[in-house]
Amino acid sequence: MTTSRRTRWPDESAFRYHVEMFLHRIDIFRLRNLHALSLNPAPGINLITGPNASGKTSILEAIHLLSYARSFRTARIADLITQGSDSMVVSGRLRQTESERRIGIGFRGNRREIRIDGQTAASRAELLGNLPVRLIDPARHTLMDDSPRARRRFLDWGVFYHEPSYLEAWRNYRRALNQRNAALKRRERQGAILWGQEAAKYGKIVSRCRRDYLEAFTTHFVATARQLGLGENLELRYLPGWTGEKDLLTALTDDLDKDLRAGCTHSGPHRDDFMVLHGGRPVRRRFSRGQMKLLAYALILAQGRPMTAPGCLLIDDVASELDLKNQALLNDVIVHSKEQIFITATHSEAVAGLLPHVDRIFRLKQGGLTSPSPHSPSDKDL
Ligand SMILES: Nc1ncnc2c1ncn2[C@@H]1O[C@H](COP(=O)(O)OP(=O)(O)OP(=O)(O)O)[C@@H](O)[C@H]1O
Ligand SMILES: [Mg+2]
Repeated sequence: MTTSRRTRWPDESAFRYHVEMFLHRIDIFRLRNLHALSLNPAPGINLITGPNASGKTSILEAIHLLSYARSFRTARIADLITQGSDSMVVSGRLRQTESERRIGIGFRGNRREIRIDGQTAASRAELLGNLPVRLIDPARHTLMDDSPRARRRFLDWGVFYHEPSYLEAWRNYRRALNQRNAALKRRERQGAILWGQEAAKYGKIVSRCRRDYLEAFTTHFVATARQLGLGENLELRYLPGWTGEKDLLTALTDDLDKDLRAGCTHSGPHRDDFMVLHGGRPVRRRFSRGQMKLLAYALILAQGRPMTAPGCLLIDDVASELDLKNQALLNDVIVHSKEQIFITATHSEAVAGLLPHVDRIFRLKQGGLTSPSPHSPSDKDL
């Protein structure tokens, strides 16, 4: 059973108590079929409804761009810009406990510009720190089936928002690894040894941060998985990207001849992974496809819990993927989540169980809003 989660808009003080940071304004220009669209979302649950191809996923894509400076659907900028235009812009206003921050991203041709509080940002990393965004969509349920790269990304996202110094160690490791690989390809033994020392120094930090994060995260994951009906006996196991109990430097030294022959580095956190165990055995061998989906959702949902500054959770068209019982379980977790949520559905009946808890509804038709939310008296301008 769900319980009412928080007071409705416009009693915003109640929201702010729970949701410390949220997007309270989004302006989108020339993104796919969204020519000019402005939203004033609530800090709680925002429902975006509309028929197929009305632009629901594109709104989530806009929010994703504000966090990652990248889309989750395409790597090609031209796909994002409205056909016939040569530029697009998304901007957002983030309300924090005591302050407001303006973030924006624009593309003109292949040029990208990121702006934070009116200033051009030097790098994507500056944007990343502002708005933690997680996404659950039909493509995401393969998290535990996909290659380890998706799971490393998952880990890195969590560590990045937990440990601000992590990004530097990660970058230094990547740089040393690339240099070592380049030396290996040129058969430069000495260069490979030197860059190996550098890679081992930062690789150990990357690995330790990931291991610590996974350990701290486990309690949150187990609690969320239990709420989603996945049972009690779940554990997460970190799988370091090199064998045995060896120190990373020793592993790189031992591998040198093999690496020189292959022209690449076999050992290191670039090969890290983690697995989920149920009753001590890998879930992949025990869980049904539906359970694997819920497991992936449990991992993503749980990542919002240990955060010191929760951000936005984007949920695209997920209800249609689950049976009624699992939909109800998922709704219950969503309702009790203490973060800003954007959820899409082709019609509100598809998320019927969630409706009593929805704070704002945005109805879309052909890239425009049909009417403001009934719960949002301040939305007259929409
Ligand atoms: N670059 C572009 N320029 C103009 N329109 C585009 C561009 N890229 C995609 N579109 C169109 O934008 C529309 C909105 O797509 P979107 O995926 O956001 O819809 P949706 O509401 O999520 O649909 P569904 O319910 O089917 O998931 C589609 O009709 C798509 O063809
Ligand atoms: Mg869609």
